[in-house]
Amino acid sequence: MSWQSLRPAWGLVLGSGLGSFVEQMEVTASVPYSEIVGLPQSSVAGHAGRFVFGKIGGVLVLAAQGRVHLYEGRTAAEVTAHVRWMSEHGVRRLVLTNAAGTCNPAFAPGTWMMLGDHLNLTHTSPLVGGPNFHDMSEVYARSLRAHFATVARELGVTLHEGVYAGLPGPQYETPAEVRMLRTLGADAVGMSTVLEAIQARALGIEVAGFSCLTNWAAGLHAGELGHAEVLETGQRAAADLARVLARAIPAL
Ligand code: HPA
Repeated sequence: MSWQSLRPAWGLVLGSGLGSFVEQMEVTASVPYSEIVGLPQSSVAGHAGRFVFGKIGGVLVLAAQGRVHLYEGRTAAEVTAHVRWMSEHGVRRLVLTNAAGTCNPAFAPGTWMMLGDHLNLTHTSPLVGGPNFHDMSEVYARSLRAHFATVARELGVTLHEGVYAGLPGPQYETPAEVRMLRTLGADAVGMSTVLEAIQARALGIEVAGFSCLTNWAAGLHAGELGHAEVLETGQRAAADLARVLARAIPAL
């Protein structure tokens, strides 16, 4: 059966260092973004740039391995093209993952945070030009959050819930910016996800989001911050989220 006729109800977007998650899947087909008209290619290390159709616990999912970011010079429409494509191919529930810095002293690096809400601080939106005034009062579905929290607890996986601040990047934040973000109510900070979540909601897709807390945000800890640390921590923590998803997705 060719992938064109597959209709996965679940979608998964894999962020920095989390691409190895597809090793947990029973892969049916793999389609490079380069073979799809209108799909931009990522230029960032750790982002492969392909769709993978496969099964998790017997349930068909469509994983986007790699995304493009505003800081690659892309528009809000371009960074959400994969979400529209997934919607066209049947996705009704979308799990977004990312690597993020933690600005909550109680959320240690190496653990996961489920997004309860977000701050879109990118100053843009994939919905510019319409549809206008879309409701965003529950971007991350309450029912999915409850389900994932229950499964994580059963498995003994630490899963915080908090607010993700999405910034354009590409540089990491200054300590003053991190203090500002904490004042605004952010628990984690990153450079992706919020525009994808907005696009998905506008398409009527149920969304769940997970931040791999790869490092203390600037100023919360001594020392410099680097992409290598982000990738390495992501790779180690990926197995924890994989266990949660492998049990939670088939159970719904
Ligand atoms: N800030 C922004 N984006 C990030 C970080 C961070 O500290 N870590 C991983 N992605």
